[in-house]
Amino acid sequence: MREKLLISTGGGDAPGLNAVIFAVVNSAARKGWEVYGSRAGYGGLLDRDDLVRLTPEGVEGILSQGGTILGSTNKGNPFAKPVENLAGEIQIVDISDKILTNFQRNGFFCHIAVGGDGSLEIAHRFAQKGMPVIGVPKTIDNDLEATDRTFGFDTAVSTATDAIDKLHSTAKSHDRVMVVEVMGRDSGWIALYSGISGGADAILIPEIPFQMDAVCAKISDNELHDKHYSIVVVAEGARSEDGEVINKGKGELGRSEMVLGGIGEWVANQIRDRLGKDTRSLVLGHLQRGGSPTTFDRLLALRFGAAAVRLAEQGIFDHMVAWVPPNMTAVPIAEAIRNRKKIDLGSDKVQTARDIGICLGD
Ligand code: F6P
Repeated sequence: MREKLLISTGGGDAPGLNAVIFAVVNSAARKGWEVYGSRAGYGGLLDRDDLVRLTPEGVEGILSQGGTILGSTNKGNPFAKPVENLAGEIQIVDISDKILTNFQRNGFFCHIAVGGDGSLEIAHRFAQKGMPVIGVPKTIDNDLEATDRTFGFDTAVSTATDAIDKLHSTAKSHDRVMVVEVMGRDSGWIALYSGISGGADAILIPEIPFQMDAVCAKISDNELHDKHYSIVVVAEGARSEDGEVINKGKGELGRSEMVLGGIGEWVANQIRDRLGKDTRSLVLGHLQRGGSPTTFDRLLALRFGAAAVRLAEQGIFDHMVAWVPPNMTAVPIAEAIRNRKKIDLGSDKVQTARDIGICLGD
């Protein structure tokens, strides 16, 4: 009997998801296995129409495409799914048994779950219930501690750097301060990498609660040195020393995380009020998640996909593939999701930022 393998993509999308699918389908096919994709996370284990057969011919050409051909969701936790009862009230129900039963009935021997910390936590809970699961780390935020990089990050940094590059000429033409808000809930990887590479004057990250006095001092110093424009890059999860992370509430029903956003506008208003400078803010938002993956992200995603199939062959489950240069390794999922990867404030990247005169808000 041929082995049947299941793959799903969960959480916010990231450039490179299709490359993982491409690698899994092609590696598995060469072992004589059948691969099925589950639409929108666990949808294919709830509704047969959402279970799709994936073949090398069917995935031809997807590796360079952004998004995921399987669709994704960040409000689909099967252990706590909100459903409306007859009285119109929302109840939280656990549908994980049904999903596990359907997984077994379909004869799958392994589930490759591609996702960030939220999706991997769900995958781990299924592993504890008896589903043989292998995790593949994904998030543009690059905040999973067990792996040096997650795919999608490099593409997001490229997009953000490109945007910052373009802001220089308009900021300079109008003697303005431009404040760019980038993604990064718990850590400022995108802000730091794109801010340094894009020649920002200040970079504000969740790891360093910032002082507006420091940011304004940097802008005033620019003026003294005859530079009448400034660029400030701020991660969505950054906060001032005496403030909170700005959020828009939980948004759609079933989300576990707050929708962040608004810190860029807040910083811009502070600069305008304190310095009287013409200031504008913009939010790059989901532009950073879109588009074709960079070469780096494609290669990393392909390596993750192929490594996941090798783990399946070896029967190593409840583990996540991780890149610990120069090797691909496997880390127990529980360990991989324990801590978020924060920027090491003693690292040479942070030191480089300080050395070239970038204000980090402290
Ligand atoms: O976790 C990845 C991420 O891109 C965060 O940086 C951001 O806060 C979040 O996803 C946005 O998610 P959504 O697509 O639900 O708006």
